[in-house]
Amino acid sequence: DALAGRRAPQPDAPVVRPRRLRRTPAMRGLAREHAIDPASLILPVFVREGITEPHPVQAMPGVVQHTLDSLRREAAACAQAGVGGIDLFGVPADRDETGSGAWDAAGILNRGIEAVRAEVGDALVVCADTCLDEFTSHGHCGVLRQGGRRDGEVDNDATLGLYQRMAVAQAQAGAHMVSPSGMMDGQVAAIRGALDAAGHDDVAILAYSAKYASAYFGPFREAVGSTLTGDRRTYQQDPANRREGLREVMLDVAEGADIVMVKPAGPYLDVLADVAAASPVPVAAYQVSGEYSMVEAAAQRGWVERERVIAESVLGIVRAGADMILTYWAREIAEGLGRH
Ligand code: PBG
Repeated sequence: DALAGRRAPQPDAPVVRPRRLRRTPAMRGLAREHAIDPASLILPVFVREGITEPHPVQAMPGVVQHTLDSLRREAAACAQAGVGGIDLFGVPADRDETGSGAWDAAGILNRGIEAVRAEVGDALVVCADTCLDEFTSHGHCGVLRQGGRRDGEVDNDATLGLYQRMAVAQAQAGAHMVSPSGMMDGQVAAIRGALDAAGHDDVAILAYSAKYASAYFGPFREAVGSTLTGDRRTYQQDPANRREGLREVMLDVAEGADIVMVKPAGPYLDVLADVAAASPVPVAAYQVSGEYSMVEAAAQRGWVERERVIAESVLGIVRAGADMILTYWAREIAEGLGRH
């Protein structure tokens, strides 16, 4: 009897069954909408002046401040793994009021850019952070007004001129891309103008457009030895604001940004989705230090499955619409994906 052993269909049995597409790994593979492409990952790295061995960052297990030598090795390993780019942050031995180490050709960040370009050529996109906070004695992203009614305020327009010098120095050192992260008004237009005037019209701008005054940047402060007291709420965005993220993006696009960025990533996926839907240029998202450290800390305690949470956290950022992702796991992900 052909019907033997079959269950009679219930009259109210579902006709539409999404589970058919989840039956086997191969079926799930066919139906998968998004994937992480190593070529769209950028590894943020720290290069520190005056050390002879890589120096671990306590609050970011697995992340180090590099020497120039270990930086070169890291860049080579990234290129080998198929990572798309590297983003350099400098940790200078000395700081001053204006952050002059930022545009000194012999400053640690510019030497780092040179070293990485010498190592990898064009195999990676070599990007540099274009912001003064690592170089100023007070730790702010711009210079401070002296005296008068507005004493101590971060001076927007005086800062722009310094960003211009910094961006040109980075281009001269060999950066393919500069990335203004200081959230000064007009910074993209100012930098574009300075680069073009100096003959660097081939250098791209990755604009930190929707950057929020976030507590998720906490571990980064140790990574760059930041001296900041207080906060950045007069220049970075209020975490309560969604619409404003789009406004900042549109301004940066109008000013000539080649790529716009949302930062942090995971807690701001709504902003990222808005930007991905509206932006005429590629969209980056930065999975920041706090997002990294929280996963590493929970994994160390055995509270979450490390690799699965890493993959899921990055996939969520892809799904929300990021074309490229800055993540401290970039090389590990690229190497893992290469294996499977
Ligand atoms: C500022 C800058 C910061 C980060 C990147 N660029 C710190 C800040 O704005 O306070 C944070 C990155 C991270 O937390 O991983 N130049």
